[in-house]
Amino acid sequence: MLERLKPQSPDALLALIKMYAADERSGKIDLGVGVYRTGQGATPVFSSIKAAEKRLVEQQDSKSYLGPEGDVAFAHALMPHIFGEEPEFVGKVEGMQTPGGTGAVRLALGLAQKAGVTKVHLGSPSWPNHAQILADMGLEAVMFDHALDDGTANAQAVLDLIGNAGADEAVLLHGCCHNPTGIDYSPEEWDAIAAALADSPILVVLDLAYQGLGDGMAEDAYGVRKVMATVSEALVAYSCDKNFGLYRDRVGALYMMARDSETLGLTISNANSLARANWSMPPDHGAAAVRLILEDEALTRDWLDELTTMRKRMRQVRDRLAAAGTAGAVDLAPLGTQNGMFAMLPVSKDQVARLREDHGIYMAASGRINVAGLHDGNIEKFVAALADVTG
Ligand code: LMR
Repeated sequence: MLERLKPQSPDALLALIKMYAADERSGKIDLGVGVYRTGQGATPVFSSIKAAEKRLVEQQDSKSYLGPEGDVAFAHALMPHIFGEEPEFVGKVEGMQTPGGTGAVRLALGLAQKAGVTKVHLGSPSWPNHAQILADMGLEAVMFDHALDDGTANAQAVLDLIGNAGADEAVLLHGCCHNPTGIDYSPEEWDAIAAALADSPILVVLDLAYQGLGDGMAEDAYGVRKVMATVSEALVAYSCDKNFGLYRDRVGALYMMARDSETLGLTISNANSLARANWSMPPDHGAAAVRLILEDEALTRDWLDELTTMRKRMRQVRDRLAAAGTAGAVDLAPLGTQNGMFAMLPVSKDQVARLREDHGIYMAASGRINVAGLHDGNIEKFVAALADVTG
């Protein structure tokens, strides 16, 4: 039976992790998968997480099951950080824990599908796993252009599709720090998108995987907060992978906003049954550590300080790249105004291969780089290599 399966290529982004590890050259540079790195190239566990984990070991008295919704106190503790203190829509929203942001996206799209959605609008380019999840679920992905040639967001494209959408459609938007372009909607564009969504039958799914890595926790949530305050229903897929550095612990949450309490109850019951059918219950450890941080003012301050350090360092890298101006045929100036961990460089697959083979520089074949992989010790080498392969 199993011989009937068709071979699948390994995930191209995740394959870079192994290729980079196998490269024995000193001075190799990893700009592949989206993991934060310090100026020394390390990805340490946050000190606030370490402290919370110690408390967890001492205080946790049972590992008995929690249920498909996971640690609801974790999902609630995050809410003021995501949605702001006491927003007007707070009573209309409920959250549940998911295995990472990917689990939250999958659950959100599962709810959309169960509610009758057949087509999902997705900006191009997007995180490759978005399209893969849609394909796996049998949902039609309808692509729209995310960005304009001048490196700004193409807000008109999303406004147009929202204006023309029917009741069996959803749109998946990146809340901030767009992956892979780093190109976000401006606050004014979010205002217009929120107003258009309010007048449309389309369901909006917001993927917020990088809050705090762009301009700040509140600034990065502007679009999500605006949309939630304007529309009557929305789904938010949240990830703590990057902003708590919990990558392999798989910590995420799904927030559901419905037009009334009856519909919210219906949505929650469907989310619980989907979670049960998919993974039964999410892993507890990382979410419990996040909850302990958020229940403690001093630990929350430590966490926010660590996040600020990360954000500032990535901004410095962007500023340095932008100040370099051009590298061969690549204009680096737009990187200075983009946000978060990622940027897309206009390089061909062959040029990406040459960067890897000739210079030991690893990046996605799409031309995406993770700016956190650059630091004082390697940024000049990177700019020179880029000039070499594109010049
Ligand atoms: C990325 O885009 O590099 C990250 O979100 C990691 C992943 O799972 O793809």
